Amino acid sequence: MASLGMTDRASVNRILGSYGGDETGDQFSSRAVSATEGGVAPAKKMAIYGAGGFAREVAWLLSAAKPHLVFDFVGFIEDAADPNREVDGKPVLSWERFSLSYPDAVVAIGVGKPQAREKLALRCSAAGFDFPILIHDSVAMSDSVQLGSGSIVCCGSILTVNITVGNHVHVNLDCTVGHDARIDDFATLSPGVHVSGNVHIGQSAFIGTGATIVNGTAADPLVIGAGCVIAAGACVTKNTEENCLYAGVPAVLKKRFV
Ligand SMILES: CC(C)(COP(=O)(O)OP(=O)(O)OC[C@H]1O[C@@H](n2cnc3c(N)ncnc32)[C@H](O)[C@@H]1OP(=O)(O)O)[C@@H](O)C(=O)NCCC(=O)NCCS
Repeated sequence: MASLGMTDRASVNRILGSYGGDETGDQFSSRAVSATEGGVAPAKKMAIYGAGGFAREVAWLLSAAKPHLVFDFVGFIEDAADPNREVDGKPVLSWERFSLSYPDAVVAIGVGKPQAREKLALRCSAAGFDFPILIHDSVAMSDSVQLGSGSIVCCGSILTVNITVGNHVHVNLDCTVGHDARIDDFATLSPGVHVSGNVHIGQSAFIGTGATIVNGTAADPLVIGAGCVIAAGACVTKNTEENCLYAGVPAVLKKRFV
């Protein structure tokens, strides 16, 4: 299966159309219809890897996702699932059972920790699974926002102009991302994070709840180093080193991970 790769908002419609959406360009409508209504192709089967808090929130997002009508949610995936377990009324499938039962499904990775998400994404890719882009219907963003495959943008977030979001990035509830920002693969923005303009967030960085990243400039973007953890409530005012924890207002280096 081919990877979806980067896409802008206009292209999201076309790509999701290939997942069984209707032909009318109505994938962004909030109308709750079944995937087969009107004779369109059957919905693409989809599972969420993980069954914890964020995975359950992603399942909720599906009920109001911009491309909501194109997915048939088959359940959550856990590495060693009890065969009879359910979460929020949906089955929890073992990886083995899922991959044998739904070889043509797509997978959303519902795990907030960047490093864990990367491992699961690699496993899914190696087994031939693709990843949907999920955007809650309330999200506001311009046509100049590019999103990588597997990225998830949750309820209430706003992404303005000329923003590049990599693969498997999570933008949790109520975040804002300003102009000319770049967010690399597997980064996580926790709820209520504000990323100002001309900021570059490195691969697998984790930005805690309510943190603010102040703006850089076009010539000198503010860089959050790859693998950084920014503590909840921090205000980052200058570049951070890779693989370090920063906390406080203004944020200061607290520890190095490697
Ligand atoms: C940073 C965090 C991950 C803790 O990491 P940790 O490696 O266990 O860090 P520690 O608890 O050892 O703290 C290290 C230092 O950072 C400080 N610190 C940790 N979190 C802080 C915060 N949110 N604000 C200010 N200082 C903080 C500690 O006081 C300590 O400071 P000191 O060394 O001067 O005493 C955690 O506090 C945090 O902010 N998590 C974000 C959770 C979140 O947003 N989840 C989203 C769920 S959807």
